[in-house]
Amino acid sequence: MQGNNNIKSELIKDWGLEATDNGELVIGGCNTINLGNIYGTPLHVVNEARLRTTAYSFLETIKSKYPGKISVHYAFKCNPVPGVIKIIKAAGIKAEVMSEYELMTALKLGYSGKDIIVNGPYKTDRLIKACIENNIRFINVDSLFELEKIESICNDLNKSAEVLFRINPDFVPSGMNNGSAAGSRTGSPFGMDMKGGEVVHTLKMIKRMKLVIFRGFHFHIGSGIQVTDDYRKALTGLKKILNEAENSGFNVDVMDIGGGLGIPNSREMTTLELLLYQAFDLLHSGRQSNNKISFAHYADSVTKGVLSLFRNKKIPELILEPGRCITGPNQLLLLKVHQVKERKGIKKWLVADAGIGTLTMPTYYEHHEVVLCNDINRKSSEKVTITGPGCFSADVVYRNKIMPKVAAGEMLAILDSGAYFTSWESSFGFPRPAIVSVVDGRHSLLRKRESFDHMISLDTI
Ligand SMILES: Cc1ncc(COP(=O)(O)O)c(C=O)c1O
Repeated sequence: MQGNNNIKSELIKDWGLEATDNGELVIGGCNTINLGNIYGTPLHVVNEARLRTTAYSFLETIKSKYPGKISVHYAFKCNPVPGVIKIIKAAGIKAEVMSEYELMTALKLGYSGKDIIVNGPYKTDRLIKACIENNIRFINVDSLFELEKIESICNDLNKSAEVLFRINPDFVPSGMNNGSAAGSRTGSPFGMDMKGGEVVHTLKMIKRMKLVIFRGFHFHIGSGIQVTDDYRKALTGLKKILNEAENSGFNVDVMDIGGGLGIPNSREMTTLELLLYQAFDLLHSGRQSNNKISFAHYADSVTKGVLSLFRNKKIPELILEPGRCITGPNQLLLLKVHQVKERKGIKKWLVADAGIGTLTMPTYYEHHEVVLCNDINRKSSEKVTITGPGCFSADVVYRNKIMPKVAAGEMLAILDSGAYFTSWESSFGFPRPAIVSVVDGRHSLLRKRESFDHMISLDTI
C-alpha cells in the first residue's frame, strides 16, 4: 500500500487512521511514534472509539433486520484481553467462551451466567460443573460423549442444564481452506456429524435425560468469511435436520450460527496462495479489500437464511457469536526495525522486534497491510523479508513483502491486528508486550508489558 498517492485517504477511509503533515501515522488522535516511544515496542494499540462504534453498529444492524429475538455473544477467543472485552460489553454484547479461563474472565468482568454461552471440543468436567453451578445460558454440546458427561454432572449436582447441539454442517465457505474451515466434515472435528446420523442419534439419547434440556442447534462455519451469502447457504442446508428434530418431537427454539464474518481489508490466504507462499515464498502482493463485506449484507443473508429454514414455523431466537469482525479492524501492532541486513542480489531482511514466534502468528496464513509509521508517503520500492527477534528461522512476519526502503530504528504497523493476535501470543524468549487503548488523543494502558520476573514467576529455580 505504501507509496500510493491516496494513502492518507485510504488510511482514513478503510482503517479510521490519520497522519500528521509530515506523514507520521496517527491512531485515535495519538501519534504512533510517540506511543512507541512512551510504551516501547512491540505494542498493541486499540482504537477504542472505533471498537465501540463497531460493536454498537453490529448489534443495531442485526436487530434492525431480524424480526425475532436476537442475542449477540462476543467470542472471547478472538481477543481475550479484559480491557478490550469491557468496551464490547459496554455496547450490550454478551459472552461466548470455550475454556475455564475464559469463563472465569467473563464472570470476573461481571457477566451473569445467563449472558454466557459455552462452546468448544474440550469441556473438562470442571468446566461443565462450573457452567451448571453458574447457570450458564447454553452449553453447546460437541458430541454424544460430552452430552453424557453433562448428564452425569447434572445428576450429581441435581441441577438442570439447557443445551444446543453443535452440528457439523459440512459447509466450506467460499475461498476457504477445506482443512481449516470449522464446518467442514472432512477437515474439522467440531460438532456432531449431521450427515453421518450422529445428530439424530444424539437427539434420541437426550430424550430420556431428565435434567438436560435441548433448546436448538449451533454451527460455526469458519473465521474470516468473505462472501456474506454463505450464511444463507449454510442455513438452507439444515432443512433436513430441522425436520428430523421436529419429527422426533423437539422444538428448535434457538439457532446459534456462531461467528466468522470477515473484515474488509485483511483476509485468510486461499489454499493456492498459502501453498505458493509457504512452499515458494511467493506472497500475493496486491492491496486486499473487499467492500462487499458489511454488517448490513451479513444481517440480510442471515435473516434470509433463518426465515427460509423456518418457513411456516415459529421463528427461533437467533444467537450470533462474532469475534473478528468486531475487534479485527480496530487494533494495530507497532514494531520497530532493529537492523537491516542485505546479501546483495539475494535478499534483504528487516529484523524487527515481533514475529510469528511471539506475536504475529496470523501473518503466517493471513494478508495484512504493513505501514511505515514514521513516513506513510515513502514509496514502495523493494521486496523484503520482515523477521522477528527470535533466533530461529521460522520467526518471520512476512517473506517478500513489498515495502518502501526502511532503515534501522524505524517503526512499522501491522494493521487489522485485533483478531487472534493477542490470543496467539507467546513469550518465546521475550516478554509479551503492553496493550494500550487510544481515544481522542488520550492513551491508557490496558495491559502492562510482561516483566522478566513475571515470566519466571511460576518456575521452580
Ligand atoms: C464456536 C465459535 N464461535 C465464534 C467464533 C468467532 O469467530 P470469528 O472470530 O471468526 O467471528 C469462533 C472462532 O473460531 C468459534 O469457534
